[in-house]
Amino acid sequence: MSFWNRHKIFEKNSIILIAGILVVIAIGGLVEITPLFYLKSTIEAVDGVRPYTPLELAGRNIYVREGCYLCHSQMIRPLRDEVERYGHYSLAAESMYDHPFQWGSKRTGPDLARVGGKYSDDWHVTHLINPRSIVPQSVMPGYPALAKTELDPSDVAAHLRTNRAVGVPYTEEQIANAAADLKAQVDPDNPGSDALQKRYPKALVRNFDGKGGNPTELDALIAYLQMLGTLVDFKLYNEKANLR
Ligand code: HEC
Repeated sequence: MSFWNRHKIFEKNSIILIAGILVVIAIGGLVEITPLFYLKSTIEAVDGVRPYTPLELAGRNIYVREGCYLCHSQMIRPLRDEVERYGHYSLAAESMYDHPFQWGSKRTGPDLARVGGKYSDDWHVTHLINPRSIVPQSVMPGYPALAKTELDPSDVAAHLRTNRAVGVPYTEEQIANAAADLKAQVDPDNPGSDALQKRYPKALVRNFDGKGGNPTELDALIAYLQMLGTLVDFKLYNEKANLR
């Protein structure tokens, strides 16, 4: 029997053909997938990137709950117009603790990946309550309820634990102090704010919504917006990567 005649076995018997297809696809799959198990990480670690503080995480949850991602992306692409408008292009490591990530592709409003530090807290308070008081032609909805709603500190530790379950390296200490850290971040006079900044380097401690008392949802959302894209020191990063 010649080689080509043997191939008839596959062509005349559909079960054998299916088995043959599965073997070939499995080989192709292994070739693509096996190397991934031998890479230490598919994301390059970058200095400065740390898990969110409890207040920032609460703010991120509000961001997702309110659907801000429907109009805002959080990924600066490495294209000249984007880099000139928004700053250094986004690194994979900058969203490594995002579950789910907020990259998005819809930009009714601007990209927010590096909005941290761009405006004052006051600006955000006014803008989030009524965007049109700052940008008259804005189509962004106002979120006045955030200023009136206090955060519920009772479930924040559970949010940290849930994130740990999907791979964010929160420590026992961070989880045990989650509710205290939530309060400490909005009050520079709080004796716990130094410990918070040790646990979360570069954490901003201030009264984000401009009102004292318990942290509100507005505090949390502004704390989140003000840290977006600020963790990596790009001067150091560019020297290391020998860019520029
Ligand atoms: C219907 C679409 C829409 C939604 C939903 C929306 N935005 Fe916006 N956003 C815009 C538009 C348009 C602008 C630009 C005009 C302006 O500044 O209001 C903007 C601007 C902004 C800016 C200023 C960005 C900059 O660099 O100038 C921030 C910050 C912001 N939005 C945050 C949010 C947050 C937080 C949420 C969710 C609570 C949200 N937006 C929901 C459309 C939206």
